[in-house]
Amino acid sequence: MKIETVTIFPDYFAPLSLSLLGKAQNSGILNFVVHDLRGFSTNNHHAVDDTPYGGGAGMVMLPEVWGQALDPILVNDTDLIILTPAGKRFDQNLAEKLSASKHIVFACGRYEGIDDRVRQHYSSDQYCARNIRVHEISIGDYVLGGGEVAALVMIEAITRLLPGVLGNPESLAEESHNEDGYVEYPNFTKPPTWRDIAVPEILLSGNHAEIAKWRAAAAEERAEKNL
Ligand code: ADE
Repeated sequence: MKIETVTIFPDYFAPLSLSLLGKAQNSGILNFVVHDLRGFSTNNHHAVDDTPYGGGAGMVMLPEVWGQALDPILVNDTDLIILTPAGKRFDQNLAEKLSASKHIVFACGRYEGIDDRVRQHYSSDQYCARNIRVHEISIGDYVLGGGEVAALVMIEAITRLLPGVLGNPESLAEESHNEDGYVEYPNFTKPPTWRDIAVPEILLSGNHAEIAKWRAAAAEERAEKNL
């Protein structure tokens, strides 16, 4: 999978070379490319933003700079993710869908966001015909300083689903997941007692059927508490 990010802060993406993602890149499963948006600005001060038409606070990112950056990157069959708190909420289901993509481009906006004509332009029929799919995505109902951290969150959630990325390939297949794809029951490891708190006896029993029952009940209890 090829993943490209477009940002005015390329350094935000340094963690992509760490840990499992770094290894996946070395082994050729993943290919990350980070583009500095400012390099596509043709005006004197390398500006990337301007004041909003209609007035109001803050700055809006210039469509021409984004167009220059995205045109060469958006090859056929690409998912373009525009990060914005106004987007569709990212979840495990979307992570799974995007893990089937060959090429994902993350457009990381700052300030009050990117001129909406960028979204409109790349959503038009000519791009649809080239299998370029535009998604406006939010990672949660809060406002970040920009899309970079949101892109990192999405990259981690998507790429860990790819074969060969996780250290232990069995951990994805064998874990028991809820319908959203994550483990809900509480986990324990050694020692059997820590600060006077004992691991539930059943987990030490080796009785897998009973352990599965206990975990299902504990997951339900935890889910109810977190409602
Ligand atoms: N940019 C600013 N806030 C964001 C959020 N919650 N999700 C995605 N991109 C953002």
